[in-house]
Formats: sequence, C-alpha cells, structure tokens
Amino acid sequence: MKIAVLKERRAHEMRVAATPDSVKKLIGMGAEVAIEAGAGAAADYPDAAYAQAGAAIAADAAAVCAGAVIVLKVQRPMAEAEGGADELAAMPRGANLIGLLSPHSDAASVARYASSGVNAFALELTPRITRAQAMDALSSQANLAGYRAVLEAAIVFGRAFPMMMTAAGTIAPARVVVLGAGVAGLQAIATARRLGAVVSAFDVRAAAKEQVESLGATFIEVPSEETQSAETAGGYAREMSEDYKKKQQQVLHDHLKKQDIVITTALVPGRAAPRLITEAMLRDMKPGSVVLDMAVESGGNCALSESGKTVEANFVRIVGIPNLPSRIAADASALYARNLVAFLALMIDAKEKVLNIPWDDEIVKAMALTRDGEVAHPDFAAAARPGA
Ligand code: NAI
Repeated sequence: MKIAVLKERRAHEMRVAATPDSVKKLIGMGAEVAIEAGAGAAADYPDAAYAQAGAAIAADAAAVCAGAVIVLKVQRPMAEAEGGADELAAMPRGANLIGLLSPHSDAASVARYASSGVNAFALELTPRITRAQAMDALSSQANLAGYRAVLEAAIVFGRAFPMMMTAAGTIAPARVVVLGAGVAGLQAIATARRLGAVVSAFDVRAAAKEQVESLGATFIEVPSEETQSAETAGGYAREMSEDYKKKQQQVLHDHLKKQDIVITTALVPGRAAPRLITEAMLRDMKPGSVVLDMAVESGGNCALSESGKTVEANFVRIVGIPNLPSRIAADASALYARNLVAFLALMIDAKEKVLNIPWDDEIVKAMALTRDGEVAHPDFAAAARPGA
C-alpha cells in the first residue's frame, strides 16, 4: 500500500500534504510512504526529517507516483494547459487522489480524473457532521487563515492595536470589525482581541451572535426576521434577499465610519462571495483604515479588492492576499496532514493493513468525485459530460 506525496507546484503554495509526524502515522497504518524531494522545504520540513520518519525520498513526480495506490496533495494537480507538467499523467490508473481539488471552480478537472481512471476525493466536500470534524480541512485551514489575516492587517496598519499609556500620551486601542463570523472570522476575533483591539463582528446567521459575544466582541445586529433562516442544514449561510442586503448595507455603512480595521470572511458555498463593502462605504472610512478581504479569491467582499495587491483609495488600504493558510505553512501543513490521516483511517483496514474504501459511507460518498473511470458525485456528473 504505497502512499505518494507530491510537491505542490501552484503559485503561492507553500504547504505540503504530509509532515514527518503524519508519515509515521501512515507507516503505522501499514503504508509505505514516498515523498517528492523538496516537497516540504517551503513549510520547513526538510527531506532528511521525512527520511528519518521512514519515508522514501523520490526525485520527481513520476518516481513518487510509480506503484502508488494513494496520492496526497494540497491543491489539485496541475494540468498541461496551465503551463506546467501534467501531474495527473504521473498517477497510475486506479490510484486514489485526495486533496483540496476545487471541483466547483474547476469542473473540467473532474472529467479528467474520470478519464485518467483516478478515484478523486475532494476534501472541501467533507460533510459537517461530528464524525468528520477531524477530517475537515476547510475548517483547519480557515482557522489559521483567520489568525494570519489579523497579523497581516496589523502590519499594514500605521497605528497600534492595543491601548498604550506612555509618557508622551495615550494611544487609543484599534477598532476591528470582522464581517462573517464562521471558522476564520471567530479566529480573527480572538486574535484581534489578544492584540488588544476593541472588536465587533457581524454575520447573517443568528447562531453567530452568541459565539461572537463569548469571545468578548460586540455583535452588530441587522434587524430582520431573515437571520433566523439564514443557516442551511449543513451549517453554511444562504444567499440573502435584496431587502435584507439593503438593511445590512445601511447598518454596516454607519458602523464602518468608526472602524480602523475590517477583516471580511463572508462566503456562500458554490456562489460568488457577497459584496458587503461598497465604494461609498470606503469613501466614508477613516484615513489610515485597513480592509483585509479574505474572500478576495472568491470574488471579494469589498469593492476594489484585488488578489495579490494592496489597493489604496482615499487613504484606505484594501489588502487582498491569496492563499493565507500558505503564509503559515508549517502549522497549516501539520493540521492538513492530520486531516488526511483521519480520512485515510476511514479507508484503511488497520488490522489487515490494506486499503478498503467504504464507498457507501456518508463521508466517502460526499467527497468522492470519481470512481473507476466514472464521475461518481451527482453534483458534478452533468458538468463533466462532454459538451455540457
Ligand atoms: P464559510 O467559510 O462558508 O463562511 C464564512 C462566514 O461568512 C459564515 O459564518 C457565513 O455565515 C458568513 N456569511 C455568509 N454570507 C454573509 C453575509 N452576506 N454577511 C455576513 N456574513 C456572511 O463558513 P465556515 O466558516 O466554514 O462555517 C460556517 C458554520 O459552520 C459555522 O457556524 C461553523 O461553526 C460551522 N462548522 C461546523 C462544523 C461541524 O459541525 N463539523 C465544522 C466547521 C464549521
């Protein structure tokens, strides 16, 4: 049972799908592990540490993947059309590929997994049930991204976060507002509080209020009945009505005038991120304010935000950083690798030390995109059909 761990090749990606610690666990589960040389270097995991943990270091993707039954990745494999090596071509037919495969934004890749005979499992489709929590890579990565977002905003901000009483006078604490109080948002609140800021937060889901307040932040209320039904059975937010959006904009516009830092995290699965901050709101913010748009890669929560850029408008800086978890690559990789070990524990028969995929398990069903050369996931079957 050979497990292959490939080096990540996409821009801005510094994470790796296994750590020396996870390698030990996988070997303990009966696997043989091969790592592509240099795969962990950007996350500060040297080849020697993997070798010491028992992994074989292989020179390139083809050598790592030869004979592998499981291939672990952080991001989806590069296709030749994307200007690099075709990573999928290195994977043997029948191999099981596990990673954050972005099937919603790259539906064509699902068809390619099927035609390559690779069984692909997308970690972002992990169902939000208690049993799957240890495998939930979206949560583990969002948590660290929320932390990192506050640090990035603090660096761009020309003032201090905590209140400081000095001989030269007192510095007022920064006012931070977090829009979207899910996994990333709650961690952003906690981090901003630890740095001494006065924090407020907003979310469409009514359940978020209690969580925000338990972290010592103020919850911004938008008076509407709709918040009661804003949460789906899966725990995610719904798209809100036009009427609600108008009320929300009014409340936010007034609130933002008094803030220094805005961290936006709002996402609606399968849709473009909701636009929460308009240019009119930006014009009314204080000079020196910073907006860090965590949703920048999904269309953005803030007007003018651009991935990979800090845009300045009227003394307000709008920061768009792609792939925030990658900026805390060692810990992000460690948590991600543990997510993978937890998922593999479901697929590996530890007693017999063989791969035995429980295709009817609710978690496996939710995450399996392809199986035996076919698109297995109902949400992607139509999109993968030729001509669709
Ligand atoms: P997400 O990343 O999809 O969205 C981030 C936040 O943006 C969410 O809280 C969402 O309600 C909010 N949002 C969406 N539209 C908005 C708008 N127009 N204005 C303001 N906020 C808006 O969500 P995330 O962070 O992945 O988690 C959402 C929920 O799922 C949380 O309650 C979390 O605690 C829960 N969860 C449950 C898990 C489990 O039971 N296994 C695992 C992980 C999260």
